Amino acid sequence: MTKVAVLGAAGGIGQPLSLLLKLDDNVDDLALFDVVNVPGVGADLFHINTDAKISYHLKSDDNGTGLQNALQGADIVIIPAGVPRKPGMTRDDLFKINGGICADLATGIATTCPEALVMVISNPVNSTVPIFAEVFKKHGSYHPKRLFGVTWLDSVRANSFMAQVSNSIPSSLDVKVVGGHSGDTIVPLYSVTAAQEYGRLSEEQESALIHRVQFGGDEVVQAKQGAGSATLSMAYAGYRFLRTFLEIDDDAEELPVESCYIPLDDSIKGAKETKAYLKELTGEDIEFFAMPCELSFDGVEAIQFDLLKNANEKERELIKVCANTLTGNINKGVSFIKG
Ligand code: NAI
Repeated sequence: MTKVAVLGAAGGIGQPLSLLLKLDDNVDDLALFDVVNVPGVGADLFHINTDAKISYHLKSDDNGTGLQNALQGADIVIIPAGVPRKPGMTRDDLFKINGGICADLATGIATTCPEALVMVISNPVNSTVPIFAEVFKKHGSYHPKRLFGVTWLDSVRANSFMAQVSNSIPSSLDVKVVGGHSGDTIVPLYSVTAAQEYGRLSEEQESALIHRVQFGGDEVVQAKQGAGSATLSMAYAGYRFLRTFLEIDDDAEELPVESCYIPLDDSIKGAKETKAYLKELTGEDIEFFAMPCELSFDGVEAIQFDLLKNANEKERELIKVCANTLTGNINKGVSFIKG
């Protein structure tokens, strides 16, 4: 029995994400939570005759216990709650509003389903994931292996844009992206994970491609003319990341590997090496970083550190730029809770 809770289920991402989860045979129980509109979304999905059981909860339900009811017994919690970016706003501008929302939701998780796998979509991911970590620490329920910032959209874009420029098949690519999840903190490791296609590009095409991946979100924000940011591609990316866990085969010889933004906690295999490498390269002590990770239902089993070591000179330079911004973003998240 697998229960998934979607927090922010009535939003632009939450609705298509909930639809994809309702269609997945590996989800037994789907709990939808939001502060508004979730009864309509829940009733609509309820009519789909797939087997996942649907429940929906407003924050105000049952004397304000809606969140607890949604989270009760959840194995996986995925969080697209918050406000999206509007034109002219950076992900960092969202920080104040979304930081408060994330702190509240983290408290609910810490007190109701502290063992769940927690997947954070709410931006700015670079700072909201540290907020979750700090709230969990406060409640004595911090499981660093089980906390993820969902950065899969960066890989999705890295694959799509590379396919376009190199005339290759989008679904054949599996580009791993490291660093953070905004602008120049996003570093696609093309030279390591799409060497053949990358090798066919000119220096100019390489730089344009990397820039497009780093700022791909802006294309959607502008095209939507103020009506929000990426929702459909994000719902797909969030679902595909979550589905990795639903499809884990206990008998398989190898664990699936996906990029995600995680705490570089010493309890995770490969974290110490990653931190030491980043310190030597960038001079920064980096506590959260997106890396390709081996994943099991217990969380991150190991970080694939070797991929980072194999980055080319240009990518190493990008990691230095990333480190500078990312450290500030992480500190901002930590101070939001620590004061
Ligand atoms: P939206 O405004 O359409 O939906 C957000 C939903 O969150 C709304 O239904 C709202 O009622 C709900 N909400 C607000 N406060 C809440 C609370 N305290 N508890 C539960 N639900 C609450 O926004 P959209 O487009 O769905 O984006 C959601 C978040 O995802 C934003 O922060 C956005 O920046 C982020 N995002 C992340 C991406 C990623 O790659 N990680 C990509 C695109 C967006």
